[in-house]
Amino acid sequence: MNSFKKHTTKDGSLSLYSFSYKEGFHDKDGALKESIDKYLLPAQLEQFSNTEKIVVLDVCMGLGYNTGCIFEKLLQSNIKIEWHGLEIDQRPLNLALKEKIFQEIWSPKVLHFFNCLNKSGKWTDGFNEGIIHWGDARKKIYEIQSSLRFDLILLDPFSPQKCPELWSEEFIYLLTGRLSAKGRLITYSTAASIRASFKRAGLKIYSIVPSIVDQKKWSLGTVAMKKRSEQDLISKECQLKDLSTREVEHLNTRSSIPYRDPTGKGSSQEIISTREIEQSKSQLINTSSWRKRWNTAR
Ligand SMILES: C[S@@+](CC[C@H](N)C(=O)[O-])C[C@H]1O[C@@H](n2cnc3c(N)ncnc32)[C@H](O)[C@@H]1O
Repeated sequence: MNSFKKHTTKDGSLSLYSFSYKEGFHDKDGALKESIDKYLLPAQLEQFSNTEKIVVLDVCMGLGYNTGCIFEKLLQSNIKIEWHGLEIDQRPLNLALKEKIFQEIWSPKVLHFFNCLNKSGKWTDGFNEGIIHWGDARKKIYEIQSSLRFDLILLDPFSPQKCPELWSEEFIYLLTGRLSAKGRLITYSTAASIRASFKRAGLKIYSIVPSIVDQKKWSLGTVAMKKRSEQDLISKECQLKDLSTREVEHLNTRSSIPYRDPTGKGSSQEIISTREIEQSKSQLINTSSWRKRWNTAR
């Protein structure tokens, strides 16, 4: 049975380590910091300031940081929110809600949202509404009305090697089909396989530029959109940029071979093995040569 270890990250916020995935839920630098830098700021919510309604999909809600940060801003505006969450396991949210350091981060409105989801899977404050679809995201996404288009999709599964089923080309195509014309699909991942799948799905991709304090990192993640953005992608707090030459070259390496899950039911092991076979037969350049050329750490 999946189990977790609680710990406090460098910014003082709560996170979990999953023994079954052998991976932490967040960056060691901070669970809250990660959500702000990789999801809230790249969403550039100011672009929705003239919109009446915003539709949000949180894929892998976990403890809820990504939605929490975005709601702290949106709930101060007059924009109506329709929110959907996909998450296989209720325990991370349940565990977090019992912790004082988690409760203290959030305003009463956001805490109320989390408590409603935890209790009944639904939330409304009379104006906004939300529902969480507990279960495998690959299946549960079909519970959401197929005509609904999302303005923000927050994609935050465990890493591709641990949870390839939610990074498959097929799942990315499915999410792309549900993205609104001006919507943003945002993820912490900078993996060539994921970025290449976004591109094949017809999305334009941008790199999330690290802040001055994070200069050791070459990118904080990826924002994908249906059309090239006409607006200035450099706002006060966040910078999105076209991929650098180094990042474009990364997409021509063997790392860009996608995770495939044609049935939507493949196990992690099956998906990884199929990709390894495809990589071993590939004519694409070895990722190690790219790494050497750019002096990029693993
Ligand atoms: C990296 S954590 C998400 C962190 C989260 N966004 C937060 O702010 O705390 C990954 C999450 O993916 C969930 N997950 C794993 N496989 C899944 C699946 N097939 N469908 C839906 N959720 C899944 C895990 O239960 C875990 O909560």
